[in-house]
Amino acid sequence: MKILVTGGMGFIGSHLVTRLLQEGHQVICLDNGYTGRRLNIQIHLDNPAFQLILQDVVDPLPAALEHSGIQQIYHLACPASPPHYQADPIRTIRTSVWGTYNLLQLAQKTGARFLLASTSEVYGDPLVHPQPEDYWGHVNPIGPRACYDESKRLAETLAFDWQRQHSIEIRVARIFNTYGPAMREDDGRVVSNFIVQALRGDPLTVYGDGSQTRSFCYVSDLVEGLVQLMKGSHTGPINLGNPNEFTILELAQQVLALTGSASVIAHHPLPEDDPKQRQPDIRKARTLLAWEPRVPLHEGLQLTIPYFRQRLGLG
Ligand SMILES: NC(=O)c1ccc[n+]([C@@H]2O[C@H](COP(=O)([O-])OP(=O)(O)OC[C@H]3O[C@@H](n4cnc5c(N)ncnc54)[C@H](O)[C@@H]3O)[C@@H](O)[C@H]2O)c1
Repeated sequence: MKILVTGGMGFIGSHLVTRLLQEGHQVICLDNGYTGRRLNIQIHLDNPAFQLILQDVVDPLPAALEHSGIQQIYHLACPASPPHYQADPIRTIRTSVWGTYNLLQLAQKTGARFLLASTSEVYGDPLVHPQPEDYWGHVNPIGPRACYDESKRLAETLAFDWQRQHSIEIRVARIFNTYGPAMREDDGRVVSNFIVQALRGDPLTVYGDGSQTRSFCYVSDLVEGLVQLMKGSHTGPINLGNPNEFTILELAQQVLALTGSASVIAHHPLPEDDPKQRQPDIRKARTLLAWEPRVPLHEGLQLTIPYFRQRLGLG
């Protein structure tokens, strides 16, 4: 198959590109390099089955894509970590909404199946725990996270309306906290922050008392979920994430133990609108996709720590 992956130079996108190439597909990666890195797809640059288009999803897409014979579009292009999406909130909204608009238009013209990488952030600071897909969320529409949360919600709306109006095939994945190699050192999300701080011997930044919980999905599990969702007949939205819940303090302790770091834990005030709990209800993914995460946290951390060690030039 010929498959377009937007955001393919990013953390999740680059793992997806590798997986699709390994399955024998031809992959076009479209990315503007905003948060992604060439390094993540460097190994594929000489592969004739791989093509890189450096371009912003907000700009008109190359006309050649309409005649390229693409059968699937994985639409991942969007900054995903709070420091990156909050650095230029209006740009984030344009990317998420206008980019999705452009890619849906391409899906309509090509007849390709379209998968949107949405997010658990559509649930905001949830009042229902764990979060099932039919929970409509508790989102502050004007806070500092809204540029991401609300624009992903609108991207979902666009996808469903496009399906209703133009009968295209859509898939919507609500991705929960994912981690693994290929994340940026300055990504700003908790797993990469803790590993980088522990490896550098810096204090681990814990917001609040660290009793807030999160669930962490290893990237290979997540990519498997995306591929199964794209292949299957269920439109979604469908939660993809690891339901095992840990407090932030537990995560910090695991990272300290696995890195052998002597770093201390430093408590800082909670950021605005920081969700207190986040845990996916993955019953739908289990039943409809026969999918569930396989990699436990300590194993995923063991696979991720050497990557960061190398990135930081520590071995
Ligand atoms: N990683 C997670 O835990 C997580 C959780 C929920 C949802 N998601 C979603 O998954 C997708 C990928 O996330 P990630 O963690 O790999 O993030 P990432 O920042 O590593 O990757 C995003 C990629 O999109 C590219 N991009 C950004 N804006 C663009 C634009 N305007 N035009 C073209 N390319 C652009 C970036 O350069 C980057 O390569 C995102 O849509 C994100 O919202 C990720």
